[in-house]
Formats: sequence, structure tokens, C-alpha cells
Amino acid sequence: MGYNPSMAIGPDDTICFCFDVSLRKVQNFCQHEKPKAASQISECLSAGTGCAWCIPMLHKIHGQLCGQYKPWWRQQPDDGYHSPERDADSATLDADAYASGREEYLKRTRGGQDTQGPKE
Ligand code: FES
Repeated sequence: MGYNPSMAIGPDDTICFCFDVSLRKVQNFCQHEKPKAASQISECLSAGTGCAWCIPMLHKIHGQLCGQYKPWWRQQPDDGYHSPERDADSATLDADAYASGREEYLKRTRGGQDTQGPKE
């Protein structure tokens, strides 16, 4: 799949589908709250606390905006969906590929059940 700048993830695109958290919300949270750990982004509308699909992206955004060093033992394994090439830069990441990648992720991790995320 080639890069299409018109489909790149933008500020209004969803990063956490389980809790409908946009890139803009995560970026604003990081810029204002300056969380020390990426896991603290969960305080932003519970982002990352559902299916876990968005956690690598939250780590990437946190690293870009908060400049946190992530030691090698904390790095996410390359599972084919969160590869360094695919997640190299959220500005160049294809928003549709990110969204469809979650569907594949949910099918693989949940056997195709409960693709709507956690229940309230
Ligand atoms: S997409 Fe963020 S927790 Fe599911």
C-alpha cells in the first residue's frame, strides 16, 4: 500500500477507537499535562484501556511530544501492524489502514468477537 497524503492521520482522526479519542485530544493532553509515562495517557478519556490496539500509537505520540526515552525492554514487538515502517510518523500513517488494522487485530486476538471494544 502506497502513501497517500490525503489519507494520513489528521488531528480529528481517531487514535483510540474503544473510547473515541482523537489524535488532537491525545496531543493536547500530552502538551498540557506532560505525562511522564505513556500509560498516563489513559487519564485522557481512558485512551488505551480497552482492546489495547492503540497502545503502540499512544507510546509513539508520547515519545514525540514528551520526549521520553523508551528502553528496549519496553518497546512493543513488531506484530506486523505496529511495525516501525507503518508507525514511523503519525503524520504519514494512513488513517484507513490504521483503522482496518484494528479490525484485523481484534479478529486475531478475540477470534472475531466483540469488535466494539469494552462494554460499559
Ligand atoms: S483502540 Fe484504544 S483501547 Fe481499543
